[in-house]
Amino acid sequence: MEPKKVEDEAFVTLATDDSYSLGALVLGHSLRKVQTSRSLVILVTVGVSADMRSLLSSVYDLVEEVGEIDSKDEVNLTVLTRPELGVTFTKLHCWRLSQFKKCVFLDADTLVLQNCDELFNREELSAVPDVGWPDCFNSGVFVFRPSDETYKALVQFAEDKGSFDGGDQGLLNLFFQDWATKDISQHLSFLYNMNSNASYTYLPAFQQFGKDVKIVHFLGELKPWKYIVSEGKLMKPSESQHSEDHLQYWWDLYMSHVEPHLQFYQDAPYHELAKVRLESPEPVETSVSQDQPVAPGFISRQEAWEKGEIDYLGVDSFENIRRKLDSKINGTTE
Ligand code: UDP
Ligand code: GLC
Ligand code: MN
Repeated sequence: MEPKKVEDEAFVTLATDDSYSLGALVLGHSLRKVQTSRSLVILVTVGVSADMRSLLSSVYDLVEEVGEIDSKDEVNLTVLTRPELGVTFTKLHCWRLSQFKKCVFLDADTLVLQNCDELFNREELSAVPDVGWPDCFNSGVFVFRPSDETYKALVQFAEDKGSFDGGDQGLLNLFFQDWATKDISQHLSFLYNMNSNASYTYLPAFQQFGKDVKIVHFLGELKPWKYIVSEGKLMKPSESQHSEDHLQYWWDLYMSHVEPHLQFYQDAPYHELAKVRLESPEPVETSVSQDQPVAPGFISRQEAWEKGEIDYLGVDSFENIRRKLDSKINGTTE
């Protein structure tokens, strides 16, 4: 039976392009699977295609278009080594969802494993300490109260003070600067925003507490949708430290609930690129059944090349490029 809907509370996420929308789709399905009683809302910008919006509306109750806000703070984004994260200022629009009394923001690269509706018992601003700097909170998961006033104050603050990492996390931590010390009830358990690399950084704790995790966060540049599938296997790049069970669950949801609806990508340039086969030292066995699924990650590779960010030792290695050229010359599809 469907749980009784709480109309004035919502989980909210954000996507500024079709690539992050794939994460948002899996996230939305993961929330439905745990039978949340709250509404699902996604903020999208002009960069999300019409086809993708219609797919998003099959899982989200509200697909809300917002204007893109970019910090354009190249200096701090370079320090963070994530030049693409200036647009995360767009997250601030979530405070404008004043039809809701309380919301929980979730990054599009999070995945819900267990029902966590109890988060709505917390107050603004509740969040999990950041793994890199625990006196700061990680802004991939937070409880907030929509308010036009707070939105305006945040935008003003962004103009006046900016952000120490060029993204929303550096801004929100400056704005809610007493979070670390004021009220321990606003510190959420790590189980609500478990960095998916934690199984590598602190394996004994992961073995002890891992089964209780409620929300996994695939934080960092490598996202689940950037992995490559070849002959039914998920190819794991050497830099990957994602916990395999969580990665597998992400892909299970993706293959069962998202990929079958992506026919509109048939002619996209990366569908062609998806035929390239890359090898990895550690293939991860998966239950993926398609031979040539859409491999959205190739968009990012292409973009990275265009920006001069070339992974000489990994996917862009001479070996891989030569293999692709050979297959083109010989007319074979690898
Ligand atoms: N995001 C987006 N488009 C972008 C970059 C980020 O929509 O180009 C949104 C998306 O919801 C994403 C969040 O902002 O999950 C934060 O970015 P990301 O998760 O990549 O940061 P990380 O958690 O890896 O630091
Ligand atoms: C982070 C957070 C992410 C945020 C980014 C930029 O590491 O996980 O949610 O958008 O920093 O501030
Ligand atoms: Mn994230």
